Amino acid sequence: MNDSMNSPFRWAGGKFYARNLIIPHIPPHDVYIEPFAGGGSIFFVKQKVKHNQLNDIDPELINTYLIIRDRAEELIAFLKGEKASKERHAYYKNEFQPRNDLERAGRWYYLNRTSYSGIMKKANCYWGYGDKYSMRPENWPRNIMRTSRKLQEVFITNWDFEQAIKKAQDGAFLFIDPPYFNADQDKFYSCSFSKDDHYRLNDVLKKHKDRIKFLLTYDNSPEVRKLYRWATEMHDKEWNYTINRTDDQRNGQKKEDNFKGERYKGKELFIVNYNSSKVEQSHGLQLEIAF
Ligand SMILES: C[S@@+](CC[C@H](N)C(=O)[O-])C[C@H]1O[C@@H](n2cnc3c(N)ncnc32)[C@H](O)[C@@H]1O
Repeated sequence: MNDSMNSPFRWAGGKFYARNLIIPHIPPHDVYIEPFAGGGSIFFVKQKVKHNQLNDIDPELINTYLIIRDRAEELIAFLKGEKASKERHAYYKNEFQPRNDLERAGRWYYLNRTSYSGIMKKANCYWGYGDKYSMRPENWPRNIMRTSRKLQEVFITNWDFEQAIKKAQDGAFLFIDPPYFNADQDKFYSCSFSKDDHYRLNDVLKKHKDRIKFLLTYDNSPEVRKLYRWATEMHDKEWNYTINRTDDQRNGQKKEDNFKGERYKGKELFIVNYNSSKVEQSHGLQLEIAF
């Protein structure tokens, strides 16, 4: 059964636009782990394997994954009748006090679907919904149910990445998508990531390189190249992506539409500890069919 779908969440730094470049580098595997899952765009687009694990340090994100996996219908009931409006966004952001995990997930889901770029950190969480470009509330239940089906039997954890890598089974494949090395991403994510964390990631990957396979995506910079000079392959990759901006953010430049897409270029480095050219060839035909 084809269970490929888009990420259920809007997530800064999500790999939606790069998925066609990433998938061809993934080798065959039975155990799949994302230590920095975020919106999980690669997990959701690829087929599930025997064992799948999504891990992230953000407790609100992980709580929402767990509620969608285990209590999808209750979450749908909580969100029933919701309208996407600036007033409701402000209410969930500033006033609503969740009393339990279900309400935490309900609040988080509402804000994620209606905030600019899905940025959930309170200081940078702004209304960013447009009927033409965002998923409308009447479609949320279908999105939640589909996500819940895909998440069945997925191991979902709220650990630091180091623990997820250390505990990975021998032979596992890990898709590793940390915050950027050189950009200040503290404004996007609720947990900050320091230079020491980047070095810690390098150390732990080096230590486990002979028993796991990994594909690591990073900003393309000399420091990263130097740090990972021990890896098997590095590939320069470029892709186009679009960010929708609201009228409010465009300083009153009125447009007929509430949102207007702006195009950017993603430039990253894919770092792997295995020979991925063979993998690419065997994927060729399948990809032509899938995308
Ligand atoms: C670039 S995003 C991942 C995006 C994801 N691949 C997607 O497609 O949506 C990086 C993620 O790392 C998480 N993170 C930050 N520090 C972490 C840590 N110490 N351990 C695990 N996850 C962490 C953030 O919460 C964020 O979700």
